[in-house]
Amino acid sequence: MRHLINILDFSPEELQELIDTANDIIADPAKYSQICRGKKLATLFFEPSTRTRLSFEAAMYELGGNVIGFSEANSSSAAKGESVADTAKTISCYADIIAMRHPKEGAPLVASQNATVPVINAGDGGHNHPTQTLADLLTIYREKGRFDHLTVGLCGDLKFGRTVHSLINALSRYEGLKFVLISPEELKLPSYVKKEVLRAQGIPYVQTTDLEGAMPDLDILYMTRVQRERFFNEEDYLRLKDSYILTPDKLQNARQDLSILHPLPRVNEISVAIDSDPRACYFKQVLNGKYMRMALILKLLKEAGTL
Ligand code: NCD
Repeated sequence: MRHLINILDFSPEELQELIDTANDIIADPAKYSQICRGKKLATLFFEPSTRTRLSFEAAMYELGGNVIGFSEANSSSAAKGESVADTAKTISCYADIIAMRHPKEGAPLVASQNATVPVINAGDGGHNHPTQTLADLLTIYREKGRFDHLTVGLCGDLKFGRTVHSLINALSRYEGLKFVLISPEELKLPSYVKKEVLRAQGIPYVQTTDLEGAMPDLDILYMTRVQRERFFNEEDYLRLKDSYILTPDKLQNARQDLSILHPLPRVNEISVAIDSDPRACYFKQVLNGKYMRMALILKLLKEAGTL
C-alpha cells in the first residue's frame, strides 16, 4: 500500500507526474469531475486547519467523490483515549483514503502502519507537511519552469515550521540548489535537517538573521509564520513573533523575477501591501494546493487498486 508520509516517499519522477496531472486538471477539469464517484476521503484533523482540510475536501468533491471526517480532536474518540492505530483501523472500514493531521510527530506514520487504505500526512507536529510541499512545488514549477539552479530563501520559524522541513527535503534532490536560511537565532533550522539533508548531500547553505542582506540573491523567498502552538512559553513567542515583516521597502533590492511564497496562514510576516505585487504567489499557491491534492488522491487510489 502506498502512502504519503514524507515527501521523500515519492521520487522526483513521481512528483513530476503529479505536477503533470495537476496541470492537466487545470486545463480540463471536466475530464476529472466524476473519476472518484462512489469513493470516500476521510479527513481526520486533530489540529486546526483551514486550507489543508478544506482543499482536501474540495479536491475530493471536484473528483466526484465524497468526504467524511472531523476537524477537532475533541469531537472524535481520541478524546476518550483511543489510539491512533485503532482510529486508523476503524476509519479504514469507512473510507477509501485518509488524510490525517496530528500534533504528534509520527502519528500519520503510525496510522499508515495500521490502516488498510492509503494514508496521507496532512501535517505532523513540527516535523513534516508533504502536501504543502506539493502546493509549493507546483507553484515553483509554474513560476520558474524548473527546480534546479535556484537560490531559495527560507525565512521565519525554521525550527518548528514543518512546511520548511518538507520543502528542503523535496528540493534537495535537484541540481544547483542553494539555500539561504533566514531566522532569529532561537528559530534556526534543526540540526538534524542540516546534517541529514543539507550536509549529507553537499548542498550549499548559509544561515543569517538578515533578510534584506539576503534579498538580492534570491529566486524564491519562502516566508513562514512563527509557530505559536509549538512554543513552551508565551513570552518567547511574543518576543519573536514579529522578527520578520516583509514590506514593500524591503523588496527594493529584490530581483524582478523573485517569487514570494508563504504556506499561510499569515499573521504579520507579509504586509498586505505586498499582495498586489506581481511577485506575490501565496494565493496562487493555495489554489495549486487543491490541484496537487486532486492529483495525489488519484495516484494513491489507483495504486491501491481502488480506481
Ligand atoms: C502550515 C502548517 O499547518 O504547517 N499551514 C498550512 O497547512 N498551509 C503553516 C502554518 O501553520 O504556519
